[in-house]
Amino acid sequence: MRGVTAPNRCVVSPMVQYRATDGLVNDYHLVHLGKFALGKFGTVFTENCAVEPRGRVTQGDLGMWHDSQVEGHKRLVRFLKQEGALAATQITHSGRKGSTPRAFDKPGELGPAGANWQRWEVVGPSALAAADGWMVPHQLEAREIEDLVKKFGEAARRADAAGYDVIEIHGAHGYLLAQFLSPLSNTRNDQYGGDRAGRMRFPLAAAKAVRDNWPEHKPMFIRVSAVDGAGGWDVDDTVAYAKELKALGIDVVDVSSGGLTGVSTALPVKRSLGFQVPFSAAVKRQAEISTMAVGLILDGPQAEAILQAGDADLIAIGRQALYDPFWALHAAQELGCDGDFGMWTPEYGWWLEKRKNNLVGLKK
Ligand SMILES: Cc1cc2nc3c(=O)[nH]c(=O)nc-3n(C[C@H](O)[C@H](O)[C@H](O)COP(=O)(O)O)c2cc1C
Repeated sequence: MRGVTAPNRCVVSPMVQYRATDGLVNDYHLVHLGKFALGKFGTVFTENCAVEPRGRVTQGDLGMWHDSQVEGHKRLVRFLKQEGALAATQITHSGRKGSTPRAFDKPGELGPAGANWQRWEVVGPSALAAADGWMVPHQLEAREIEDLVKKFGEAARRADAAGYDVIEIHGAHGYLLAQFLSPLSNTRNDQYGGDRAGRMRFPLAAAKAVRDNWPEHKPMFIRVSAVDGAGGWDVDDTVAYAKELKALGIDVVDVSSGGLTGVSTALPVKRSLGFQVPFSAAVKRQAEISTMAVGLILDGPQAEAILQAGDADLIAIGRQALYDPFWALHAAQELGCDGDFGMWTPEYGWWLEKRKNNLVGLKK
C-alpha cells in the first residue's frame, strides 16, 4: 500500500477498551495490542482515538488530541513494528454518541465503579438524539465544523509523529462523520446539509485534512457504514462517497454497517457469517477502490475465500482476535501454509515444532 508493505492481509480491527486515562496509551494497551503482533497479524489497529476530548465515546478512550499523547503511542508503535506488524491507528469523533457508559455497564452506571466518570456536552450536525434517553447534541455551527476539520488534520500529524504506518478515519457506526452523511441525523439547511453533496461536505473535508497532514508514502483508510441501518443512507450513497474519497487520495475503504441510532453497530438485518462482505464487494467493484471486509469472519478458509472471490483486499478480525490472538497463525496452519511453525516468532515456533515429535503416539 503506497510505500508500505504488510506481511499478510490479516488485520486486527479497531476495538475500544475503555482503559485510558486522559486519552493516554498505557501498559494495558501495549500488552493488549502487542499480543496480536506476536500473533503475526499483518496490521494491528489501535482502538478509535479521539481528535478532541468530547469526541470520545467513553472517558476511557484513547486520544490523539494533544501532543503529550504522542509519546505513549510511540512506545506502542515501536513494539508492533519490532514484531513485524504494520502499526495502524484509527481517529474519530463520536459526535452525539459521545459521553456514554462502557458497552458492558449496567443501566445508570457511567464508567468503572468509584472512578467518577464525567458527562460532557455532545455535538452533532443537528439537535437530534441518537435514540430515546440519549443526550441531545449541540448543533455545530459552521465555524465549529471548520475547527473540527483542522483537528482531524492535527490528529493525523500526531499519528505520523508517533510513527504509525496506516491511519484510518472512523466514519462509520453512527459517529460524527456518519451523522453528517445521513439525512435522518443531519437536517441542516446550510452548506453542510441538504442534498448528498452537502451532507458529504464535512466528512470529505475531514478526509482531505487528514490526507494533507499524512505523508504521501503512507496509506490512509476510512471506515464507513455502507448502510446506516435506519434507511437514510444506502449502498449507492456509499459508492458515490467512495468515489469522492478515492479522488482525495484515500486508499482503502473499510466497509462496515449500521449504528446510526442506538448501540454502535445495530443493523436490523439478520447477522450471518461475513454478512458485510457483499457491501465490501459492491464498493470495491463499483467505486474501483481497495476495500477491507469485516464482521463475523471467523477462520482462515472463510477469509481466503473472500480474498479469492475478489470481494476485499484486506480482512479485519475483531472479536475472533479477542478469542484467539494467534488467529493469523492458526489461519495459516488451517490453509496449509505453515506446517512447521516457521511463521511464528522463533521463541515460540522452535519449541512448538520440536514438541510435535514428542506428541506422536501420546494419548491423554
Ligand atoms: C470490544 C469492541 C470494541 C470495538 N471498538 C471499535 C472501535 O474503536 N472502532 C471501530 O471502528 N469499531 C469498533 N468495534 C467494531 C469492530 O472493529 C468490528 O467491526 C466488529 O466487532 C465486527 O467484527 P467481528 O465480527 O470480527 O468482531 C468494536 C468491537 C468490539 C467487539
